[in-house]
Amino acid sequence: METRTGFKVESLLVLDNRLPMFVGEYPVEQQVHEGLEGVLVARSAISDVNGDIGALQYRGIDIRELAAHSTFEEVVYLLWTNELPTPSQLEAFKIALAAEREVDAGIYEILRFLSHYMKPMDALRTAVSVLASDNPGEDNTRPESRLMKAMYLTAKFPTLVAYYCRESQGKMWVHPDPRLGHAENFLYMMHGKRPTPLEARAMDLTMLLMAEHSFNASTFAARVTASTLSDMGAAITSAMGTLKGPLHGGANQGALEMLFEIGTLENVEPYIDRALAAKQRILGFGHRIYRKAGDSRVPYIKDMLYQLCAQAGDFHLYELANAVAEVVWERKRLFPNVDFYMAPLLHMLGIPMDLLTPFFAMCRIAGWTAHIMEQYANNRLIRPNALYVGPVERPYIPIDQRV
Ligand SMILES: CC(C)(COP(=O)(O)OP(=O)(O)OC[C@H]1O[C@@H](n2cnc3c(N)ncnc32)[C@H](O)[C@@H]1OP(=O)(O)O)[C@@H](O)C(=O)NCCC(=O)NCCS
Repeated sequence: METRTGFKVESLLVLDNRLPMFVGEYPVEQQVHEGLEGVLVARSAISDVNGDIGALQYRGIDIRELAAHSTFEEVVYLLWTNELPTPSQLEAFKIALAAEREVDAGIYEILRFLSHYMKPMDALRTAVSVLASDNPGEDNTRPESRLMKAMYLTAKFPTLVAYYCRESQGKMWVHPDPRLGHAENFLYMMHGKRPTPLEARAMDLTMLLMAEHSFNASTFAARVTASTLSDMGAAITSAMGTLKGPLHGGANQGALEMLFEIGTLENVEPYIDRALAAKQRILGFGHRIYRKAGDSRVPYIKDMLYQLCAQAGDFHLYELANAVAEVVWERKRLFPNVDFYMAPLLHMLGIPMDLLTPFFAMCRIAGWTAHIMEQYANNRLIRPNALYVGPVERPYIPIDQRV
């Protein structure tokens, strides 16, 4: 590979390979925890994931209770304030959020421009970055200013996703409807018509379940950025860049692509066997925390997928997903994670494939902002250390003597 001047980039790779590396033993106390597995990096009171029994709590409340009785807005209130709202608090909060949904014309223009050059997750990350700068009064040191920013970004995010979608499909823009709940309004802006009650509930439940998940990679990235006392917008942008990867939020799109590639029930076994023989990761399977008991969110998403398939009178995707899950379990003893069933569910709700990861971000912004606020409230710069394993005490060779 060459640069414009004909410089061969591979020549730098050769140089890198020639570096002598340290080979020896380090003291036990200098053990490296690859991928930070099992390392406690902070105290947090936002959510607790117990992988041994497949349990998840938001602010101490079991996700099963929240899934059965709550809405996305109620959960956002809980995550940000540590308390479930009273009916009047929830009503006022919903009205306030809904009133923030509209986005300035300038942001639409920027997103329209970006949609011609960038993939959705990159375009939306850039648009959120612009949106987040649009608040000169922001002051990270004041809790109310942080909450205002969190509301502003959470309320507007679905508007950006829906706008991008309709713009890229050449459709007319649909303005947010403040009379609708957060999830229902998102589907309304995407499709230009109100969803059925089942679709609205499926969207709300999915958003609620995806709102928060402790110290996952993108949340950690957000907290690292916040720990430098950078602003909330910068922290969200870091989180979005991190979420995009296929080992994290990008897995939902990868899982749906795989289901479409497999296509038929007969093709499930040969496809998975081929992929595993080629040492490929099966996207939507495995989880660092839920290795033992499986992902606590999966049963809800799977049930909703079933109900949506029943509404459509077509169970193909449901059966295909279950068949894949069965084969992966037989071959690798890996559980499906939330991304695996969320992907076909979102497909049934008419969310285009390339918007699945932006959708994840649109839900997780609730948890990211809660964590960023928790970080600011009790901040210490996050600055870990690395074990140096490179060359040591090398002589400096003057340039005219190097070969
Ligand atoms: C999520 C994930 C990154 C967790 O990784 P981790 O905790 O670091 O686990 P490891 O990468 O060390 O994997 C442990 C073993 O399981 C295997 N494994 C884990 N997930 C796998 C998958 N999805 N497909 C195939 N093998 C998998 C690894 O190959 C490894 O096997 P080995 O010990 O024989 O090499 C991993 O399960 C994965 O890549 N999943 C697919 C991506 C995904 O769905 N991400 C969304 C997570 S919500």
